[in-house]
Amino acid sequence: MTIPAHETAGARIVVPVALEGRPYDIHIGRHQLCETAALIAAMAPGAKVALVTDESVAALHAPALEACLQQESITSTRITVPPGEATKSAAQLIALCDALLAAKIERDDLVIALGGGVVGDLTGFAAAVLRRGVRFVQMPTTLLAQVDSSVGGKTGINTSHGKNLIGAFHQPVLVIADTALLDTLSQREFKAGYAEVVKYGLIDDPAFFDWCEVNWSRIISGGPERDHAVAVACRAKAAIVARDEREEGDRALLNLGHTFAHALERLTNYDSTRLVHGEAVAIGLALAFRFSQRMGLCSGQDAVRVSRHLDAVGLPTTLQQVPGGAGTAQEIVAAMGQDKKVRRGVLTFILARGIGKAFIAHGVATEEVQAFVESEFAGESGTANASNAGRAR
Ligand code: GLY
Repeated sequence: MTIPAHETAGARIVVPVALEGRPYDIHIGRHQLCETAALIAAMAPGAKVALVTDESVAALHAPALEACLQQESITSTRITVPPGEATKSAAQLIALCDALLAAKIERDDLVIALGGGVVGDLTGFAAAVLRRGVRFVQMPTTLLAQVDSSVGGKTGINTSHGKNLIGAFHQPVLVIADTALLDTLSQREFKAGYAEVVKYGLIDDPAFFDWCEVNWSRIISGGPERDHAVAVACRAKAAIVARDEREEGDRALLNLGHTFAHALERLTNYDSTRLVHGEAVAIGLALAFRFSQRMGLCSGQDAVRVSRHLDAVGLPTTLQQVPGGAGTAQEIVAAMGQDKKVRRGVLTFILARGIGKAFIAHGVATEEVQAFVESEFAGESGTANASNAGRAR
């Protein structure tokens, strides 16, 4: 796989999301704030804008975007929410809707979500329900949000029963993945997002996985490799969303590694000092491949290759690496019971017949899962991970 010439020249990459009746584009490239303002002015002439962001992102990027909006004579109101997963709550949703109403945001106006997955999910949900639906633009500022949560219209909040259990499908009208905004991310946050990048290779694009193995450090440092990786991920996601918006089939493939990941996040109380979503996904990906190996579906070489790559990047791949512990096998299986992929008590898993050969496995027996998790705790996860066991992050 080589990067196309126009991408190496730093040109903006546009990925269409071909949803019938609600198509939109994802713009990928560096330094796009003023282009965004121009796009909004063309898309919604005369519209007011509410710029929703969190306190940390506001300090870094809001003034520059507001200056661009002003240049286009767009009136904008900034609404700031607290950073962190706890913001995806019913109380913050109501507070945000009230603030949008106070800013007199109407159906013809536009809401911009400038931030990571938390801001995008909360703002998208507020846009879905405010006045029964207003248009919104996703401007993701984390790698994870650029390659996953900002695309595809999943919006929502968390409850004490689990993550994203209240929400709506509400597609954005535009996604701007300004890859220069990722320069301010910590290494930890960037790497966590990388787990969602490599996931696309593992699902159905083995050539992309090969390319990631060689190029991952250049994706982190920036430049054409970063933009290319975001574009490959967005194209893959756009194709899946276009054929299965509401996750009645193929879209579930995007949850590779996520059944384990969501259980681990739940058992660590969504405490980002212990585990962030992308780290949980990295462990989940490694577990999904080792579980597939145990089920006789996938070769040991492929399972080891997945863990080795994530390990090389500096991501966790074992339950032993969850700071403060991951609970017991029984607790992990019980936590999986709240997953949205549980239908009438039966778990749907995304398993793999090899790298790039993921598939949806219905009716996986919880006893099988529990026996596998117990074997992982017993340290039977193979030589590739021996160096990881017990490593503190
Ligand atoms: N993050 C998985 C999806 O959007 O379906």
